[in-house]
Amino acid sequence: MSISLAVQEAMRGSSWIRKMFEVGEALRARLGAGAVFDFSLGSPHLEPPAAFAQALHELAANPPRGLHKYMPNNGFASTRRAIAARLSQQEGVAVDEEDLVMTVGAAGAINVAIAATIDPGDEVIVLAPYFVEYLFYVPNHGGVVKLVNTRGDFDLDLDAIEAGIGPRTRGLIINTPHNPTGVVYREERIAELAGLLARKERELGHTLYLIVDTPYAKLVYDGVRNPLLLRHHPSTFIAHSFSKDLGLAGERIGFLAISPRAPHREDLRRACTFLNRTLGYINAPAILQLAIERSLDASVDLEVYRGLRDRLCDGLRSAGYEVHRPAGTFYLFLRSPIPDDIAFTQELQKENVLVVPGSGFGRPGYVRIAFCVAMETVEAALPRFARVLERLRGAGARPA
Ligand SMILES: Cc1ncc(COP(=O)(O)O)c(C=O)c1O
Repeated sequence: MSISLAVQEAMRGSSWIRKMFEVGEALRARLGAGAVFDFSLGSPHLEPPAAFAQALHELAANPPRGLHKYMPNNGFASTRRAIAARLSQQEGVAVDEEDLVMTVGAAGAINVAIAATIDPGDEVIVLAPYFVEYLFYVPNHGGVVKLVNTRGDFDLDLDAIEAGIGPRTRGLIINTPHNPTGVVYREERIAELAGLLARKERELGHTLYLIVDTPYAKLVYDGVRNPLLLRHHPSTFIAHSFSKDLGLAGERIGFLAISPRAPHREDLRRACTFLNRTLGYINAPAILQLAIERSLDASVDLEVYRGLRDRLCDGLRSAGYEVHRPAGTFYLFLRSPIPDDIAFTQELQKENVLVVPGSGFGRPGYVRIAFCVAMETVEAALPRFARVLERLRGAGARPA
């Protein structure tokens, strides 16, 4: 093969999510879409809210002059201003429009933040279970991933993070609300993490950057509050996206916010704007920037996801599964009833139910169920989950 050896290596087993999606495509082709219960992909099934469609419609009917031209690489000033106003209000810290770079989703934002802060061979801490793409984003820019486990309840393990910080560590990526576990970190934990990072910065004599990935920020339930992020560790980035709360995953729109308290704020602004250009994004999609500027208060109907979460959790619990109800996102990280999560995934596959094994997120013993699906899919899958559990118990499976 003539492609790069590094890419060949990276592509080998690069994503269980894609693998399961492909299994689903094959099953759908064979059995018809209605016979496959696919919980593998975190792609919102809800259509974008009416406010977004209306904004697009107005922009198409009356496009501002120059809408489709090149623009500043950090995006339209009006969009950044509108987001900066909301972030300032939300975080209680004065965010300036120049602290923002409009990006090609959270994925673009994270890549820009990593590229801006590491040199080849520097380490970035990634917490397991993880969003698997981090394992590619860090090496994209010459960095080395240092994996650190979260606690049994998936909260931040500060001792493990401290042990993972070495002389080459430059950054840490965290994600809240969390994919795949649905955990929302409490603010006191973010404050404690900031204390740890400050101490380690003094010891190491260099800055440690915290990248907080927040695409699910609006998808929280039962009055759970997201932690404030910009009051704690000064060298913080927020990587945000509208893929999930506005149902725009295919449109590729998000932003990177640089903390106004970051010591090298000016340099970071210039570096991130430059990298948005030179990584090949140039700028975030123009019409999308203006459309989200006009729909910042909108979101898909959270009640739909809450209803799906509750039906799924209650149904699985009454079938005999051990279930921890997620506080946010549209993922349930379900403890596998047998130690081998891949074998459990395959048992579910025999029932045409597709989930992703926890091994694909660096935490074996669990499976991720993405419940951004129609309620009928959940209803049809629940008896299948129950059958699999009965079968495994009948086979005398050792409980996990
Ligand atoms: C935790 C996490 N971060 C980042 C992304 C990428 O989001 P975007 O579509 O905005 O690039 C996803 C998408 O699933 C995600 O789950």
